[in-house]
Amino acid sequence: MTQPTTNKSLVNLLPQLVSTDNGLAQDVRQGLSQNPKKLSSRFFYDAKGSQLFQQIMELPEYYLTKLEHQILSRQRKEILYAIDTATPFQLVDLGAGDAYKTKLLLSELVASKVDFSYVPLDISEDQLNLLLEDLHHRWPQLPVTALAAEYFQGLAWLNQEKPQRKVVLFLGSNIGNFHLQEAQEFLCTLRKSLNPHDSLLLGLDLRKDPEKMRRAYADAAGVTSAFNLNLLHRINKELHADFDLDQFQHFAEYDPLEGTMRSFLISRKAQQVHIGALNETFEFEAWEAIHTENSYKFSLRQVEEMAQACGYRVQDVYTDASHGFADVLLRPVES
Ligand code: AVI
Repeated sequence: MTQPTTNKSLVNLLPQLVSTDNGLAQDVRQGLSQNPKKLSSRFFYDAKGSQLFQQIMELPEYYLTKLEHQILSRQRKEILYAIDTATPFQLVDLGAGDAYKTKLLLSELVASKVDFSYVPLDISEDQLNLLLEDLHHRWPQLPVTALAAEYFQGLAWLNQEKPQRKVVLFLGSNIGNFHLQEAQEFLCTLRKSLNPHDSLLLGLDLRKDPEKMRRAYADAAGVTSAFNLNLLHRINKELHADFDLDQFQHFAEYDPLEGTMRSFLISRKAQQVHIGALNETFEFEAWEAIHTENSYKFSLRQVEEMAQACGYRVQDVYTDASHGFADVLLRPVES
């Protein structure tokens, strides 16, 4: 296995990630050539997009963060008891971001003098540097290994370089941005990186009143709209395109049959968009949609079925008072 470069920022930047090709050009070419058109939500998170997502999490309508925060603040003692803090472990945070919710667990662990290290894993090196600074300020004694990497690349590196019992966090209903089949594949692939004494704490948005969910993705202040449109701004900037952002509008709707919130960018008129880096022009009909995101909402039965199919057992389910969000503690089953 290749060694990471430990740069001066103290983030372990795994080498495969040091690449100028982030896959955007390929995604745009493919996605805009098909019918219906689509773009991947994975490209929302440039610096501006990450900033807008932080703002989304603070919106009154975006209940997901608040409900998960409520679960972790009220039930952190039970959660930590269930994962067993008596033997040392690494707390691996997939897509750590600013670790807003994880800090609830960290403060409890530090206060109880538990023997553990924290491993935030994120594709954004900038985000990790900000997080490191904040963690160092709060808990200078906390051992942290920050990994700028894709999830499975980071886990493979950890297994090779620093094997230890792992408690993996995948919070925030990030798994909901996969298609259902991809979510299952993700859980199954993750299972291969885990041992029977490891644990996985999975955050999931649960099905609820569709109106409440719709408002969370169509907020009154228009932040989600700006977040979605920022994808076109990113394409303009990075691929020298000429999307006119005023001629596209954000639209989100919930499909109760599939249990998914779908987000779109809709062309307000018939128009052409030229993408310099692809040397291609794409045609849009009036009111034609680009599908940009799925935010899947789960039922607990579904989660249990997915987990079982991938070789986990559900150890515990923690929900908020309204049963709107769940953090599910999964244990790999011995094979
Ligand atoms: C990151 N992810 C779980 C968010 C979600 O709810 O699907 C992204 C988001 N999209 C619009 N609002 C928030």
